[in-house]
Amino acid sequence: MRAVQFTEYGPAGVVHVAEVPEPHAGPGEIRVAVRASGVSPGEIAVRSGRMRDVLPVAFPFRTGFDAAGVVDEIGAGVTGVDVGDAVFGAVHPARRGANADFAVLVAWAARPAAWSWAEAGGAAGAAETSARVLDRLAVRAGQTVLIQGAAGGTGSVAVQFAAARGARVIGTASEHNHDFLRSLGAEPTTYGPGLVDRVRAMAPGGVDAVVDCAGGALPDLVAVAGDPARVVTIADVTARDHGVHLSHGAPESETGAADPLAWHGLAVAVELAGEGRLRVPVAAAFPIGEAARAHELSETRHARGKIVLLHRA
Ligand SMILES: NC(=O)c1ccc[n+]([C@@H]2O[C@H](COP(=O)([O-])OP(=O)(O)OC[C@H]3O[C@@H](n4cnc5c(N)ncnc54)[C@H](OP(=O)(O)O)[C@@H]3O)[C@@H](O)[C@H]2O)c1
Repeated sequence: MRAVQFTEYGPAGVVHVAEVPEPHAGPGEIRVAVRASGVSPGEIAVRSGRMRDVLPVAFPFRTGFDAAGVVDEIGAGVTGVDVGDAVFGAVHPARRGANADFAVLVAWAARPAAWSWAEAGGAAGAAETSARVLDRLAVRAGQTVLIQGAAGGTGSVAVQFAAARGARVIGTASEHNHDFLRSLGAEPTTYGPGLVDRVRAMAPGGVDAVVDCAGGALPDLVAVAGDPARVVTIADVTARDHGVHLSHGAPESETGAADPLAWHGLAVAVELAGEGRLRVPVAAAFPIGEAARAHELSETRHARGKIVLLHRA
């Protein structure tokens, strides 16, 4: 089967498709014939080599954390799913390899009827992450939440998850993405200099929680929250210096202990999608053979929504 991988650190060009043996579902797992899979910005940081001191990897590194497809193998002990079902889900975080023609999923849910394969392909990671950080911050109805980097693949889902909890959501993005943020249920503002004043003007009573999906602005985000305990970042490895929690699911990381993965986020996504309250914006969809182009687009850090790879017609 075809799988996206890289065998050395470097620019997007080191990403290529290789012929590799098919994986098989072990106990508690299912295998899908992948129709679409998500491109993970965290893996791009790994590929570039800038994470090699904190997160060294073995080569070949097979990319991809989430995928959607048709179930074609069911591991021992698995119930509630049949061969032929359309699902979306995620592979084991330490194993990766979802950007391939077949992927072994450790968590999954039925693909919502309203979602295209492309939307479903990149949904699981964003849903799991959104549930994980919003749970950690105990975001609930009546609160005000600031989401930094709200137009990206993760932020765009986190906005909708927070709004669905009944929170008021302020989201940051470039000006041209402000209507997009409104369409997701957030009140938009721009990130960068003056952020603290802009948010204080929008929420004079303060914000209850801050989700940082971008990195690089923790002093401002702590000032907005008034307490580092009310800030969670998924993207800033300097978190500890600011007394902020860095939430991640990579057990081998030296950037702090992993949080338990919030797989219930997939069920939340299914429920919200069924009510027409969750979409997974797709910034771009590339054929699997153009994975390097997908990495290039992701590296611009200005994709609106999720970048996905398409595996079958
Ligand atoms: N720890 C975890 O569990 C976990 C899970 C998922 C993702 N992540 C990490 O979280 C980050 C976000 O992931 P993603 O999938 O949402 O990435 P993404 O889709 O590439 O994010 C792109 C978004 O970032 C915004 N952005 C760019 N520069 C910014 C800045 N200086 N300040 C604020 N926003 C900025 C852009 O906004 P505009 O285009 O509007 O400027 C764009 O909407 C990545 O670093 C990823 O590795 C971590």
